Amino acid sequence: MSADLDPVVYLNGEWGPLSEARIPVLDRGFIFGDGVYEVVPLYATPQGRAPFRLTQHLARLARSLGKIRIDNPFDDAGWRTLIAQAIDANRGEGDALVYIQVTRGVAKRRGHAFPAGITPTVFVMVNPLAFPTDASRAQGARAVTAEDKRWLHCDIKSVSLLGNVLMAQYAAENDALETIQLRDGLLTEGSSSNVWIVKGGKLFGAPRGPRILEGIRYALVEELAAEAGIDFEEREITEAELRDADEIMISSATKEVMPITVLDGEPVGDGRPGAVYAALYDAYQRAKARELADWALHAK
Ligand code: PDD
Repeated sequence: MSADLDPVVYLNGEWGPLSEARIPVLDRGFIFGDGVYEVVPLYATPQGRAPFRLTQHLARLARSLGKIRIDNPFDDAGWRTLIAQAIDANRGEGDALVYIQVTRGVAKRRGHAFPAGITPTVFVMVNPLAFPTDASRAQGARAVTAEDKRWLHCDIKSVSLLGNVLMAQYAAENDALETIQLRDGLLTEGSSSNVWIVKGGKLFGAPRGPRILEGIRYALVEELAAEAGIDFEEREITEAELRDADEIMISSATKEVMPITVLDGEPVGDGRPGAVYAALYDAYQRAKARELADWALHAK
């Protein structure tokens, strides 16, 4: 199997091929979806793959763990070492991502409440990643809408992703990149992204809180908007505002910022990626270049 398909992964202190990694079936992640995860983008640089916004991803992982009362198995330095080792063990040409998962651990028997004296399961893998191509960015992506039926702890980056999985499948079956969710007529987020709209040159994002996962790109997009001189407001966005937007875009570790040019089969604005998207995308690339140069300077 190629190294890309069978990366060297970390599982509970051991390194080995993904194809040989095993967890017991009573792992709480398997039985209850009782765990959290992170996805950190890795960009190819001349010095090797470098993470982007790692500090922020590790802080969110710590917050997610805290919210479900799992003791963080590593401190910041411990995670950084582990991630650097995972990158080293999976040297490759292209861009990639680091996937980190921590579950409550393996129970002795099935029972919903937390078992006593349990050790968290820690899993880390590097996967190759293809960011959207220039051609797909130039065209923009299609999205569909659906009612958000998830629970009210969407701020936890939980591995219990059934709601998100069903929404992603709905997008796939409707020839769309993403499903944009609405709860009681208000925009929440995509199945695996945050959603932004533009009206009259101003950028709007749905409020942070338990109804969305605050992406690491949420604060980043805010920063980029400030840098580009674009007004930003965090507030409730109605379905009518979504449908009437001049521009819609999504953001995530794997899509960066990506324009949505067709919503439920209707063109968004003039049906082409807009000026605010273009300015944010440029600012994103500059922020990335700055941070990756910094990583190359300090990491080695
Ligand atoms: N998902 N909202 C949801 C529900 C998400 O799953 C994600 C990312 C985001 C954006 O977060 P960030 O900017 O930190 O990537 C928002 C990742 C990529 C995933 O599950 O694969």
